[in-house]
Amino acid sequence: GSASTNSSAVTTHWGSRLTFILAATGSAVGLGNIWKFPYMAGANGGGAFVMMYLAFIAIIGAPMLMNEVMVGRAMRRSPIGSMLKMTEQYDIAKFWRAIAWMGTIAALVIMSFYSVVAGWALDYIFKTGSGLFSGRDAEFVGSVFSQELAAPVNMMFWHFIFTALTVGIVAAGVIDGLEKALRFLMPLLFLLLLLMVGYSLATGDVAAGLGFLFTFKPEDLSWGAVLSALGQAVFTLSVGCVSMMVYGSYMAPGQKLGSTAVSVALLDTSVALLAGIAIFPIVFAHGIEPGAGPGLVFVSLPIAFADMPGGQFVGALFFILIAVAAVSSSISLLEPAVARMTEVLNMSRAKATLIVGSCTWLLGVGCVLSFNAWSDYTIAGKGLFDLLDYITANVLMPLGCMLIALLVGWALPRSFARGQLSELSQRHFALWYFITRYLVPFGVGVIFLFNLV
Ligand code: PFF
Ligand code: NA
Repeated sequence: GSASTNSSAVTTHWGSRLTFILAATGSAVGLGNIWKFPYMAGANGGGAFVMMYLAFIAIIGAPMLMNEVMVGRAMRRSPIGSMLKMTEQYDIAKFWRAIAWMGTIAALVIMSFYSVVAGWALDYIFKTGSGLFSGRDAEFVGSVFSQELAAPVNMMFWHFIFTALTVGIVAAGVIDGLEKALRFLMPLLFLLLLLMVGYSLATGDVAAGLGFLFTFKPEDLSWGAVLSALGQAVFTLSVGCVSMMVYGSYMAPGQKLGSTAVSVALLDTSVALLAGIAIFPIVFAHGIEPGAGPGLVFVSLPIAFADMPGGQFVGALFFILIAVAAVSSSISLLEPAVARMTEVLNMSRAKATLIVGSCTWLLGVGCVLSFNAWSDYTIAGKGLFDLLDYITANVLMPLGCMLIALLVGWALPRSFARGQLSELSQRHFALWYFITRYLVPFGVGVIFLFNLV
């Protein structure tokens, strides 16, 4: 079964449950785990943020993964096409189509800054592999990253290479091939993370690092940190911006959603936690500021590669695997728009992908410049990169989740969800339905409200 050789989302199925899990995990596991989770945890004080994040994964992220996939699987179109069909079929307000429009656009906005970070990872493959960091100290590693941010043309180049790589894969429809590669590259990333964890525990400041990550300090729990934890939980699982909906449209009908969502959530969470455990002992051992921001991974891990035996090669491999994980997430960011364009515009997949990729690259150029030439232009203290990162994860994706929960829990008949989740026992279904109807909309609403006042 191929999801990609045929441009139509309607007729194709992924071969097996495992293939879907692989694709969904490919979307979920990415920069959000290795780059964003550590920097958000660092910026929001550590333990309390991590606890909230874990709770949100369990009570909002995983159930919403089920909801989103369910809608796509039932309608079997692009997200915009699916929501159109759904409002007609169930005779509900056209308003609900906003979920798909907002999500499709949010995914493209994410792509624009996401591929800038992926570009850093590509650049660092060569920086690390060439031995630039070998034997150097934290100060040097930090200065390399400052220079990275100060050189817009270099960043645009790598950002371009990464975008072109993703566009090439989506356009050529070789997603199946990539899934096969992921089948062994993802376990490899996992193993390499374990190695980094071992190294970090052996050489870093373990007490300070793990204490920071796992000690619950209630005084750190501001409403801003709670929103960031929610944002990180939905961002890391790719829920709320219809990426999972488009993957759901390729999913075979009989597959079990509940256990699939739990598997994806568990895999994603373990990668994030391992990344945190690998990074923070190094951060504290070398006096790096945990709240250093988006560069945290790039100023900490190379220190380990600098004095680890064979670190030049381990480091290069590590950044290669991060880039691969980023590509498999980026694919799902372009797919909702590409699927819709091929659906209605009678346009080839290649052309649609090229157009969409050019737009996200261009917006990404703005993000690149926000680190240097445009650094004076800020809104609420945030440049374009930070602003797009914040708005997508902390506003658009939670809002998308809230609307999808209201759609499935209130606008659609109960029988819709019951039919989609026929594998669940009465009790499990009742719990899931309660979460969807009350917990998610109310929870997200309260968090939004307290962040406004
Ligand atoms: N979940 C991805 C990550 O953690 O890196 C990022 C992402 C992919 C977010 C796809 C949203 C999305 F639709
Ligand atoms: Na993730």
